[in-house]
Amino acid sequence: MKDLKYFINKALNEHFALGAINFNNMETIQGIVEACKNCNSPAILAVSEGALKYMGANYVRALFDAAKKDFPYIYLHLDHGKSFEVCKDAIDLEFDSVMIDGSNLKFEDNILLTKKVCEYAHKYDKVVEGELGQLKGVEDDIKNNAHIYTDPQQAKTFVEKTGVDMLAIAIGTSHGAYKYSGEQKLEFEILKKIENLLPNFPLVLHGASTVDKKIVEEFNNYGGNLKNASGIPENLLKIAVSKHNIIKINTDTDVRLSMTSKVRKVLAEKNTEFDLRNYLGAGRNNITSTISEKIINIFLSNDKI
Ligand code: G3H
Ligand code: 13P
Ligand code: ZN
Repeated sequence: MKDLKYFINKALNEHFALGAINFNNMETIQGIVEACKNCNSPAILAVSEGALKYMGANYVRALFDAAKKDFPYIYLHLDHGKSFEVCKDAIDLEFDSVMIDGSNLKFEDNILLTKKVCEYAHKYDKVVEGELGQLKGVEDDIKNNAHIYTDPQQAKTFVEKTGVDMLAIAIGTSHGAYKYSGEQKLEFEILKKIENLLPNFPLVLHGASTVDKKIVEEFNNYGGNLKNASGIPENLLKIAVSKHNIIKINTDTDVRLSMTSKVRKVLAEKNTEFDLRNYLGAGRNNITSTISEKIINIFLSNDKI
């Protein structure tokens, strides 16, 4: 059975990545799944707590089930679950995997919370992602002014004590459209140390949008104001996937920018437009192009699937 665990192991052994792409409405999930279908690529479809609140759990489930009929190798994932209860709800709704994000807690408390989620999830054979280290930027109203990189020794202890199935690490990525003010880099030395202590263990990169310059330019050309936005360069992500154990690449900002830049363009070019299918449809097509490019250039760049 080609379940999520099958693809996690395959990605680890063959050095490709599963895109973990966030969706927030019907057009975003359709745009993403069309790309997966065209490229014959498995993917994780992620919903944050905010997205769950926005769409409602029943709509999330129904949208995902419809998408799965279109392309079977997609897996429903809770992104940044902050409590045991929200993870339990997702597991009870038969999500394929959950992330319990205790990264802002004390190390010992993060271990306890993550272990509790693992114990519940594993009874139902669900996959759990934990997080250690903190990404720079704002997340759920918590602001981190600097990166707190993952401590490799702590990572080993965390995995051993919690029984988590994959681990999100902080090596220089951050959420949103402003990832760097200076040099665009990732801390590959820290990644190597983590991999030495946790050989052959699935690792996850959050905040991995590339923030394509052309898309930002279009966004700004049609009334937007995202000056000096910058993402993770494609070549760094490619190294993280093809030479390391990063098997899940989280992407939300690029989906949002792809949709919004096109909506801005269509509405600006035709000020009588009010058929939402025309501007949301253009946004949806742009999401498909953006995700297809990512699948080809980053996630499956070594042709291993
Ligand atoms: O990691 C954060 C994701 O981009 C989700 O963001 O909480 O605004 O839905 P959100
Ligand atoms: P981006 O903001 O870089 O797209 O990251 C999304 C993410 O990490 C979702 O969990
Ligand atoms: Zn994230």
